[in-house]
Amino acid sequence: MLGNFKYSNPTKLYFGEDSLSSLREELGNYGPTVLLTYGGGSIKRNGIYEQVTAILGEAGKHVVELSGVMPNPTAEKLREGAELARTCGADLILAVGGGSTIDYAKGVSVAAHYGGNAWETFYKHQQDPAPDARILPIGAVLTMVGTGSEMNGGSVITNHAEGLKIGKVFDERVMPRFAILNPRFTMTLPRYQMVAGIFDIMSHLLEQYFSGEDDNTSDYLNEGLQRSLIAASRKAVTNPDDYEARSNIMWTATWALNTLLKCAKLQDWMVHMIGQAIGAHTDATHGMTLAAVSIPYYHHICRYGLPKFARWAQAVWGVRPEGKTEERIAFDGIDALEGWMREIGVVLSSSELGVTEENIEAIADSTLLLPTGYHHLTREEVIDILRDSL
Ligand code: NZQ
Ligand code: ZN
Repeated sequence: MLGNFKYSNPTKLYFGEDSLSSLREELGNYGPTVLLTYGGGSIKRNGIYEQVTAILGEAGKHVVELSGVMPNPTAEKLREGAELARTCGADLILAVGGGSTIDYAKGVSVAAHYGGNAWETFYKHQQDPAPDARILPIGAVLTMVGTGSEMNGGSVITNHAEGLKIGKVFDERVMPRFAILNPRFTMTLPRYQMVAGIFDIMSHLLEQYFSGEDDNTSDYLNEGLQRSLIAASRKAVTNPDDYEARSNIMWTATWALNTLLKCAKLQDWMVHMIGQAIGAHTDATHGMTLAAVSIPYYHHICRYGLPKFARWAQAVWGVRPEGKTEERIAFDGIDALEGWMREIGVVLSSSELGVTEENIEAIADSTLLLPTGYHHLTREEVIDILRDSL
C-alpha cells in the first residue's frame, strides 16, 4: 500500500430493525428547533413520517418542515431551504430519505448562514466553508440505499439552467453526526429504485477499485464488498422482502462510499462524471445513468489497466484463467458484469434515459474530465462512449 492518508469518520451509525429508537437519545444533543427535511412524500405513505414525528414530539422539539426535495435536488431548492433554515433558527437538520434528501441537507447546512451564493461557491468553484463558518449539524434516517450519503461528505446539486450536476465533497463538519439505517425502511422502494441503488453501489466500488498498481488492502476489502453485493442483489431481485439480503445491501452501500476504500487510491470517477452529465440534461435516475454507460466505458479503458481487470475478473466473478490471454480474462470479467446487470434489470441503453444523437455533444461538454484511473479521457472519447451507450 503506497501513499499517505488520513482516515477518520465522525458519523455514528445505528443499524437494524430497532435503530429508530436511538433517535430519542440523539435528539438530546441538540437545541429545540429541528428542520425536518424530506422528499416527495414516500415517507408519508409508508409510515416513516409518523414514527419520526412521534419521537420528535415526545422529545418536545419544535419541528419546522422542509419537504419536496426532488431526486437530483436543484440549486433553486437549495436557496429555498437555506433561507428557511436561517429564519427558523434550526438547531438540527433531520434528513429523512435517500441520497437526494441527505445531500440536500448538507447543502442547506453550509448555505444557511453563508451570505453568498452557495451554488457558485461550494459547488461550481468547489470551495470549502471557511474555518469559522457556522454549519448546522445533520442527522439522517435513510430510506433509500445506494449513495453512501449517510456516512460521507458528498452533496450533489443540479442546475438545469446551466446544464450542470456537480458533486462537492465537504469535510467532516458537514458529514451527518448520526445516521439511522433500518433495512425495513427500504422495503417500500419501487423495484426500479432498488435496482438503481444496487448499481450505484457497484459503481462506487468499481470506480475506487480501477486505479493504481500497488498491492493495496483497500482493493481486497473492495472485492469482498462486490461479492457480497452480487450475492445479496441476486436474492433481493428474486425476493425483495428478503430482509437479510436487503440489510446486506444497505451495509455494503455505506462501506462502498464512506471514505474507507479510497485510502491510498487514485480512484477513477469517470462513470460518475459522464452519468452526472446525463443527469444534468435528462434528470434521469442516478444509478441508471451509471449503468447505461458502464459497459461501453469499461470496454474502452480495459486495455489500459489489463492486469487489474484480469485480477478482478477472477477474484470477483470467478472467471477461469486457464488457456486465456490476460485480455480475454479481463473481457470475460466485463461480460460477467454485464450478465449480472441484465439479471438484476438495470438500464443498459442511455437512449432509454433521454440521451440522443442530438444532445450527446452537450452532455460531453457538461462532463468533467478527471485525470485519474488508468486512462485520461478526452472529450472525443466521452462522445464515443456516449454513442456506444445509446
Ligand atoms: O422523494 P420521495 O417521495 O421520498 O421518493 C424517493 C425518490 O423518488 C424514493 N424513495 C426513497 N425512499 C423510499 C422511496 N420510495 C419508497 N419507499 C422508500 N423507502 O426514491 C426516489 C429516489 O430517491 P433519491 O434520494 O433521489 O435516490 P438516491 O438515494 O439514489 O439519491 C440520488 C442522489 O444522490 C446523489 C445523486 O447524484 C443524486 O442526486 N449522489 C450522492 C452521493 C454522495 N452523497 O456521496 C454519491 C452518489 O454517487 C450520488 O451522486
Ligand atoms: Zn453514485
